[in-house]
Amino acid sequence: MASDDKLIEVKNLKTHFFLDQGVVKAVDGVDFEIRRGETLCIVGESGCGKSITARSIMQIVDPPGRIVSGEILLHRRIAGDSGGQVEDVIDLAKLGPNSREIRSIRGKEVAMIFQEPMTSLSPVHTIGHQISQAITLHNKVTKAEARQQTIETLRLVGLPKPELRVDSYPFQLSGGMRQRAMIAMALSCHPNLLIADEPTTALDVTTQAQILDLMLGLQEKLGMAIMFITHDLGVVAEIADRVAVMYLGLVVESGDVYTIFSEPKHPYTRALLRSIPQVGGKVRQRLDSIRGMVPDPYNRPQGCPFHTRCTEKIAGLCNRVLPERVTIGEGHEVRCLLYSDRGDIA
Ligand SMILES: Nc1ncnc2c1ncn2[C@@H]1O[C@H](COP(=O)(O)OP(=O)(O)OP(=O)(O)O)[C@@H](O)[C@H]1O
Ligand SMILES: [Mg+2]
Repeated sequence: MASDDKLIEVKNLKTHFFLDQGVVKAVDGVDFEIRRGETLCIVGESGCGKSITARSIMQIVDPPGRIVSGEILLHRRIAGDSGGQVEDVIDLAKLGPNSREIRSIRGKEVAMIFQEPMTSLSPVHTIGHQISQAITLHNKVTKAEARQQTIETLRLVGLPKPELRVDSYPFQLSGGMRQRAMIAMALSCHPNLLIADEPTTALDVTTQAQILDLMLGLQEKLGMAIMFITHDLGVVAEIADRVAVMYLGLVVESGDVYTIFSEPKHPYTRALLRSIPQVGGKVRQRLDSIRGMVPDPYNRPQGCPFHTRCTEKIAGLCNRVLPERVTIGEGHEVRCLLYSDRGDIA
């Protein structure tokens, strides 16, 4: 399903928080791209900047945070003069968080779902009212048409009795149903990119599996790309086309899912993979946790951000030099000095 044409390219993105105590470099040079129709999973430990990367794309970073540099290039297909479609590229990083352009893109071309449905659903309006509003905001339709489309979208996400549920308030729905309603809201305008920030972490395993199946089914039907943020490498193995591994505000390794699982190169990726339970392992086998703590975000280590925990660090080098991205296979990139040409660095 994944095709080669680019939908979004994030280049050297930096989003920092300017606090009295100092600057938190939450995202500090992130690069990745997502092609039309594919699923990119973003993985990494808590605090590495996954959510802030997603929020930067949507231009919903809360102050005192802001994008300080980099590009977020969205490739769009728009109607050309001669009737066909032409490609147009817009840099979302350059748009103001309240600009007319970003408001026309947010929710329409790029939509986001959150771990906690109540962050995107208002408790005081019915779900039908909220989804219809999203539809009328971006499309020229009457109220009655919007309501009909809302019911159809609720049906699409598998909400039982959508013609009745459309008039429910979020608190009248179960957690799984609320998640479906939130997905319906995100899908109501047929986005080209759906950003899902740990959308199933709060659900029980059965509901989680149902929601994942639902998202993949809808992806196939609607042809949208998904950027899926998760801690769960089992989910990654199940749904990803490609994977980006983040550590302290940087993508340290990226590649197709098969390569990342079978030939991980970065010591951090390897450590992450060692930390998942093995089928057939000894029952009381201890999981390998990654040695050491994630450094304090105010004081990022110099050089490679992972060197303070890395078992393969090169003395005198990794604590000084920030590794460049190195391509080591088709679509497989790693930021690690073990794979850099050290002649260049010295
Ligand atoms: N509003 C804020 N003010 C200051 N720092 C913030 C703010 N929001 C996030 N951060 C910091 O930015 C860094 C990245 O946070 P982010 O939420 O992107 O992490 P994450 O990878 O999504 O983690 P998790 O897996 O726990 O959701 C963290 O160090 C966090 O403390
Ligand atoms: Mg997060």
